[in-house]
Amino acid sequence: MNEARYFEDVMTVREVELSDKRVLMRVDFNVPLSESGTVVDDFRIRSALPTIEYVLMQGGKPIVMSHLGRPKGKRVESLSLRPVAQVLSNLVGKKVTLAPDCVGSEVESMVKATGSDEILLLENTRFHPEETSNDLDFARQLASLGDLFVNDAFGAAHRAHASTEGVAHFVKPAVAGFLMEKELDFLGRLLGDPDRPFVAVIGGAKISGKIEVLKSLASRVDAMLIGGGIANTLLKAKGYDVGSSLVEAEALEVALEIVEVARANKVRLIIPSDFVVTDALKAGEQFKQELAKARTIFWNGPVGVFEIEDFAHGTVEVARAVAEATKAGAVSVIGGGDTASAISRAGIKDGVTHVSTGGGASLEFVGGKVLPGVAVLTKRKEA
Ligand code: 3PG
Repeated sequence: MNEARYFEDVMTVREVELSDKRVLMRVDFNVPLSESGTVVDDFRIRSALPTIEYVLMQGGKPIVMSHLGRPKGKRVESLSLRPVAQVLSNLVGKKVTLAPDCVGSEVESMVKATGSDEILLLENTRFHPEETSNDLDFARQLASLGDLFVNDAFGAAHRAHASTEGVAHFVKPAVAGFLMEKELDFLGRLLGDPDRPFVAVIGGAKISGKIEVLKSLASRVDAMLIGGGIANTLLKAKGYDVGSSLVEAEALEVALEIVEVARANKVRLIIPSDFVVTDALKAGEQFKQELAKARTIFWNGPVGVFEIEDFAHGTVEVARAVAEATKAGAVSVIGGGDTASAISRAGIKDGVTHVSTGGGASLEFVGGKVLPGVAVLTKRKEA
């Protein structure tokens, strides 16, 4: 599995000189906001603190960049990083200045004016269409703001964007922050040769965009427990009547490929449904049984509409079963904001081995895809 080891031997922030350096950092501050624009969950901000605080402690100047939401290349005021700047400042206890943009002469002057013990947060990188198109000139402009690059945005590392991938070609070294390092360490244990049985719990609304990754997982785990909207599409593909529930009609054919891959690899594929009542009860029991004997667990995506009390039951039950298995010695890794909220709700956040800040990123990583934001980082042997 050569390709899968691309994330090893990556240089980290611990190995570079930071004193008096402009430290250009990519973090994933893509956090949920309330309708009034306040940060609803600061998990991703808190997770980036160790690196930011370390850079400050070493005398470096953190120039921090992130995306927020999907503004589609336009300036959208409701997706400004302003509320994030406030939360960050409260958490670090330092002055955080929000730049009006992420490139340009005004930003360059602000970088120069940033004092020691201060943080400059650049405005949402996705206000520029060049961010998602990974435009070279744009990446070069971002790169010019730093003397070195620190990537701590594991949650966005599956995107080959200018601030996650392109930039690292123009400012070296490009090293991993502590969060990135920790994510690669825990999630890396699920690649290669994990302890078995290896059980994946896959939820969430949509299957499209995840097919290849799910097929890859279906060839590597011992059991795959499917919930959420994805389960409906798989059931429909298998010929069940799923009533009026959400089904991705265009994904039915490819959904069957997952069933086929699982069958060919003798992977137990377990799909509950509220519409096939007897199966649902049986599947719920099977979920628990599979999790109870698991030695490695990867859970990505809520297995029901957990925000609604009546539907939260399944997710909370899975959360409890994962915590029990972890207590009994299994390694459990949970990925994705919604899944993390679900386990908080079930009161077991400390009962799992690792809660990843990445949803899509952790799924792609464990599914064996190369994350561009990681692949581009400087290797020790290149330094
Ligand atoms: C996430 O929330 O998964 C990351 O921040 C990436 O966001 P995106 O799916 O909008 O690229």
